[in-house]
Amino acid sequence: MTDLVGVFDSGIGGLSILQALRAELPESRFIYIADSGHAPYGERTDAHVMARSRAIMAELLSRQVQALVIACNTATAVAIEQLRADYPDLPIIGVEPALKPALAISRTRCIGVMATRSTLASAKFKALLASLAGQAEFVLQPCDGLADAIERSAGSNDTSTIHALCAKNTQAMGFFGSHSGQIDTLVLGCTHYPFATEPLRELLGPQVQLVSNGPAVARQTRLKLSQRVLPAAAQPETLETESSLILLSTGDERVLQVATQRWLPQRPTEPIFLANKLNV
Ligand code: DGL
Repeated sequence: MTDLVGVFDSGIGGLSILQALRAELPESRFIYIADSGHAPYGERTDAHVMARSRAIMAELLSRQVQALVIACNTATAVAIEQLRADYPDLPIIGVEPALKPALAISRTRCIGVMATRSTLASAKFKALLASLAGQAEFVLQPCDGLADAIERSAGSNDTSTIHALCAKNTQAMGFFGSHSGQIDTLVLGCTHYPFATEPLRELLGPQVQLVSNGPAVARQTRLKLSQRVLPAAAQPETLETESSLILLSTGDERVLQVATQRWLPQRPTEPIFLANKLNV
């Protein structure tokens, strides 16, 4: 029986984590929920993000997942501790901005961090930052609207807002480059932002390294699955349960479909199941 892993994000951003999960765990099956009907999370209250995380979690559990990946920095920062307390037997893996990997590769010790306002304001992120105090200068940039613009671009193909927001936010952070005092490493601290890699590269040039956490989260998921205590659940055979990837959205499911075709490497003849709009 193959593992069934639940993955969710406020929208399509978590596909950047799902890419890495599918590469690391080719035998596993995944159910991905894009909570696009209730996005963005990053500029909403903690109570909203907590309530949504609980609702999505309950939906995934009703579908018999054996592990949960919170493919969203904002939901991880706000909800992971409570979800782990609610479900102590379920492996729950989260995403946090890749400050430590950035520290390992930065030469100027000047590191930019783009994330949602909510992630940067969270106690979890502040604790991570404090644990690295004195090791580098971290320039923090809340990028209001960027995740939403990426979400919209999947439906419309219009990337002008993404370009404008990347330009505005990187300018606000100061100088990028490989000389002393310049930011040489940029942490993409929201799972939507890897989908803005192209405009960021155009703006910052090839010498600035862009860092995100997908492969590390995937390795951690593999480890947790190997240690889990819950047995793999038997399921009735249906079109859905035969699929290696099940896609669900609380918003416009066509946006998730387009984003998946664009950003998730497809395997030939792979059965993917896209459900109609999910009401949770
Ligand atoms: N993709 C999410 C994150 O990693 C949140 C984006 C949003 O909904 O604001 O934080």
